[in-house]
This record gives sequence, structure tokens and C-alpha cells, in this order.
Amino acid sequence: MSITDMHQDLTGSERIAPRSDSPHPKTVNTSPLISAQKLTKQYGAAQAVFSNLDIDISEGETVALIGSNGAGKSTLLKCLIGLLPHSGGQVSVLDETFSGRPQAAQARRIRSDIGFVFQKHCLVSRATALTNVVHGMLGRAGSWRGWHQAIASPAWRQSAMEALDSVNLVHKANERVDQLSGGQAQRVAIARALVRKPKLFIADEPAASLDPKSGHDVMQRFVNLSKKNNITLMFTSHDMQHALQYADRVIALKNGSIFLDQKSDDLTAQDLKGVFSG
Ligand SMILES: Nc1ncnc2c1ncn2[C@@H]1O[C@H](COP(=O)(O)OP(=O)(O)OP(=O)(O)O)[C@@H](O)[C@H]1O
Ligand SMILES: [Mg+2]
Repeated sequence: MSITDMHQDLTGSERIAPRSDSPHPKTVNTSPLISAQKLTKQYGAAQAVFSNLDIDISEGETVALIGSNGAGKSTLLKCLIGLLPHSGGQVSVLDETFSGRPQAAQARRIRSDIGFVFQKHCLVSRATALTNVVHGMLGRAGSWRGWHQAIASPAWRQSAMEALDSVNLVHKANERVDQLSGGQAQRVAIARALVRKPKLFIADEPAASLDPKSGHDVMQRFVNLSKKNNITLMFTSHDMQHALQYADRVIALKNGSIFLDQKSDDLTAQDLKGVFSG
């Protein structure tokens, strides 16, 4: 997804005031944060990417979505949050329920509560780390101010600095993103997602372009921040170690169905081999 698409996706929030700085209050909500029933997706006349998937994800869970190239991971992520219309079934996410595609107002409400992180981090490479994090505020009231940190409100800059602090990058706030390492840039992308104070993180291969050490560092910080702030995290990965180590639960897609859906504690790398065989 390009930065333009991201901004289009993230604009138009109806939220008036930024949320308080405190973590999300613990509500007693037993209904899942994401629930899909008989979810089916077909692009045009092609064979369905997946059919009749039933998935429930609870608030606060960290879920790894795995599967071979083309298994449908990215498609499923997008269908679960209404970024792509589905072809059959029903989705409930963040208290919004829809079949096909969400209504425009529903889509805005859903997106305003989500922080996105992608493999190609979609940062503005010639802007500073701080400006990029301020961009995370786009979609809120007065969001034109989010285009550059110099015209952002002091409260926004403060929030953006706090988000950079949570990924240990305050010292890089005024450096251009194209002068940062891949791991540092991905930490900026996480800060940009975090500054929205989302209820849900959606991350498509957040560590894929990183070396093993930076990949672990990014995943560790990401999961710690999600847990600390009670943000539900759903990420895709081709790294089975990441799936087992950082997720509470692993869901594997294979041949258009859910091949496996288990707690990571109950799984070994050997168990996951079947996901990629055949
Ligand atoms: N916009 C599109 N139009 C038509 N077909 C698409 C589109 N996007 C994806 N597909 C097809 O849907 C299937 C699933 O693709 P998807 O990108 O969701 O897989 P993935 O599991 O994320 O793969 P990867 O591991 O390579 O990222 C593939 O066969 C792909 O070719
Ligand atoms: Mg993908």
C-alpha cells in the first residue's frame, strides 16, 4: 500500500478529540474484537482465495497469521477490517458488523481505531522521524496540521515524541527517515501506528525486510507495546520463530481454509512444517 493510499485510508475520522493518554480502560467485554463467520473471498472470476472461514479474536490477543506465498494472508487481514470487500459471510470488527463491505461511516470508525504497520513501512522517506509519527494523527479533527510537525499542535508533537520514546528513538526525532536503518525506520512506523492510540494493530510482515537481530528487536518492542497498551495485534509472518515466540496464537491458512488455529505454547516448529508442505 502506498503512502497516498495509507493517508486516504486513514483520513476522514469522525473522532473529535484525541483520546486520553491513559491506556485503554479495561472493559468487561466478552464479545470478540474480531469475528468472522463463513468468510469467503474471491477476486473476480478467479477461484476463491479462501472460503467459509470462522475466526474469533479476543481483545488483547496477539495472533500470527502464517501460510505460503499466495495463501491469502494479506487478503484476509484486509477483509477482516473492511479494507477489501469480501464475497461471502459476515465480519464484526471493533463493534461494527458488515457483509460485503462496510458502509462509509463504519469504515471510517473502524480505521480510526486501527494502527497499520507494513513490510514496506510506507513512511515519507524525506521527512523526519517526528513528522512521520505526527502523520499518524491524520484522520483526526484538524488533520491538515498533521502534514508537518512544525505546524502540528504542541500536544500532537508531545504525543509523537512519547511514541518515539516508546520505541527508543527520541534521539532520531529530527533525522530524515532515509537516513535511518531499516530496523529504526520500522520502529518509526510502529510509533506512527501507536500514536493513534489504536485498539487494534494490523501488521503485514512487519519484520520481513529486516536482518534477524533487527527483526527480533522490532517484534519484541511491537509485542511489548501491544501488551502494555492492551492493543490487539494481528500480524503476518514467514518467520516461524517469530510466530511461535511473539504470538499467543497461530492461525495458518492453506488451500483456502484454516489449516491450524492453536495457542503458540502448544506448538513447535515441527508442527508448522505441514503448513508449507504439499
Ligand atoms: N488485487 C488482487 N486482484 C486479484 N488477485 C489478487 C489480488 N491480490 C491478491 N490476489 C491473489 O489472491 C491470492 C492471495 O494473495 P495474498 O496477497 O493475500 O497472499 P499472501 O498470503 O499475503 O501472500 P504473500 O506471502 O506472498 O504475501 C493470490 O493468488 C493472489 O494472486
Ligand atoms: Mg501478503
